[in-house]
Amino acid sequence: MRTVYVNGQFMPENEATVSIFDRGFLMADGVYEVTSVLGGKLIDFDGHAVRLARSLGELDMRNPIAKEDLLEVHRELVRLNEIDEGLIYLQITRGSDGDRDFAFPDPETTEPTIVLFTQNKPGMADSPAAKRGAKIISIEDIRWGRRDIKTVQLLYPSMGKMMAKKAGCDDAWMVEDGMVTEGTSNNAYIVKGNKIITRHLGTEILHGITRVAVLRLAREAQMEVEERSFSIEEAQEADEAFTTSASAFVMPVVEIDGVALGEGVPGRVAMRLREIYIDEMRKAAV
Ligand code: PDD
Repeated sequence: MRTVYVNGQFMPENEATVSIFDRGFLMADGVYEVTSVLGGKLIDFDGHAVRLARSLGELDMRNPIAKEDLLEVHRELVRLNEIDEGLIYLQITRGSDGDRDFAFPDPETTEPTIVLFTQNKPGMADSPAAKRGAKIISIEDIRWGRRDIKTVQLLYPSMGKMMAKKAGCDDAWMVEDGMVTEGTSNNAYIVKGNKIITRHLGTEILHGITRVAVLRLAREAQMEVEERSFSIEEAQEADEAFTTSASAFVMPVVEIDGVALGEGVPGRVAMRLREIYIDEMRKAAV
């Protein structure tokens, strides 16, 4: 059984509880982060902590935990649950003032709720899925307009994953005004020659922590990076495509809406970036 963390305490998962009036439960009034663990150490903890603080700030939510304490909680969960490869899920909600009301409760008297738990994923770095590559469908992006805030409103991304599954595929890329925004739980890229193309930052997409690292490493490896939007048609004609996220690192894409990319196998650039990313992030893990 896992040991989880709820509001300042470590406890067995079956003893952890949150109020039925919690605004995370009633209103999706909460934010989250997913941090990966490799070799028992945290990948890019700083990046996730900074984005968490930003998400909270954008929603006028109080940050209930200092960065150093948050790092200790992450490390303690890794230790208690003996995680070598896996994920740490963190969620902070606006808490509960014991009833349902659209108006935010008084932050002076209502504590945010903070929950963390681990997901053990042995073999995550050496994933068979990455060797196969992902098949993608495109779906319309009908999410709200502040996708740069990492909120727990994940119903549409969940529906997108189910649409992909029903179509015999692995994931979905979302399209708005004819242009790809991002994947259901990852950022989207195409490769043309030596050039990597990924959507520019804005409120339309989540500013991926993996994206920052991968673009930096690509530039360091003398690859060209272009931050602009692209369409599904352009992606289908690209040499390669891939996605990035804390949970899947760099994931090659081999098919989009039934059209195979290149040879229909994981591309050279995507595989190289995956290797560089995992190597470099292991070195920098804390
Ligand atoms: N998802 N875009 C969306 C919509 C996401 O949900 C995620 C992450 C990303 C990639 O961000 P990062 O590189 O910081 O993980 C982009 C996490 C992994 C999840 O929901 O499980």
